[in-house]
Amino acid sequence: MKANELRAKAVVVTGASSGIGRATAVAFARKGAHLVLAARRQQALEDVEKQARTFGAETLVVPTDVSDRTEVKALIGAAMGRFGSVDVLVANAGTYLRCPVCDLTVERVEQVMAVNFYGSLYSILEVLPYMLERRAGHIVVVASVDGKKGVPPDGAYVASKFAITGLAEVLRQELRGTGVHLSTIFPGRIDTPMIADVRVPSASPKSPPEKVADAIVRAVLKQKAEVLVPRIGPKALLLANAFSSRIGDRLVSSLHLGGWDDN
Ligand SMILES: NC(=O)c1ccc[n+]([C@@H]2O[C@H](COP(=O)([O-])OP(=O)(O)OC[C@H]3O[C@@H](n4cnc5c(N)ncnc54)[C@H](OP(=O)(O)O)[C@@H]3O)[C@@H](O)[C@H]2O)c1
Repeated sequence: MKANELRAKAVVVTGASSGIGRATAVAFARKGAHLVLAARRQQALEDVEKQARTFGAETLVVPTDVSDRTEVKALIGAAMGRFGSVDVLVANAGTYLRCPVCDLTVERVEQVMAVNFYGSLYSILEVLPYMLERRAGHIVVVASVDGKKGVPPDGAYVASKFAITGLAEVLRQELRGTGVHLSTIFPGRIDTPMIADVRVPSASPKSPPEKVADAIVRAVLKQKAEVLVPRIGPKALLLANAFSSRIGDRLVSSLHLGGWDDN
């Protein structure tokens, strides 16, 4: 796809009220796309809408809790009603839980899964029939490097990201030849409110959310399967871990990749 082909395309971004989702919405607006902005906080979405409109984007704000399947159905219905199609879905909404596995409750794990796994699944299943019928469309799943290598004390979060990574990996292969594409994005540590209270080691500094947003737009334009952001550090960790999980674990602990609570 050429950059100007994003002009007037309808892009749905979940988790658009903050961080990576907000930056992604603005990045698509710069390319002339129409935006459907979803998250729970309406006022924050309206702030993003205002910013997107300065680039001439047509916008629709749909307050949505992605863990509620009915609300996600309504979101995609509203997007279709306003723009007639969903050309790009960015399944980005997410929540973070920092808690050792031995202190977890099933309920807390379910809450994380409800947003990070089921929230993405609902939106994907809702847009797929339209995209397959039109033989066109692009789904972007915002996973995490934590979806490829688990880092303590993020057990519940890591489980949710491995789950969505696995689903996306299968769906990407099933979509071959259908005209519909899927990209999975694996951010490392990103400077957003999600990890504002986490201090990270100098070996793994926080990257700006705009870097992920640009990678998402590029992934759609170039139909990339998987993208690591940043590339070098996580790639080295994943290669070492593929060679030997013992070496991977050593790197995680010696480089303090889990970070520290900053409160
Ligand atoms: N920051 C990082 O280091 C990092 C690293 C790897 C991957 N990621 C992933 O990147 C994605 C975006 O995170 P971020 O870093 O940009 O964090 P963020 O700034 O905290 O943004 C999270 C977004 O998700 C939305 N959200 C949370 N729960 C929701 C729900 N139940 N329904 C609808 N929206 C919900 C929030 O909006 P409302 O509160 O308004 O609902 C917000 O817009 C997440 O999937 C996260 O796991 C982040």
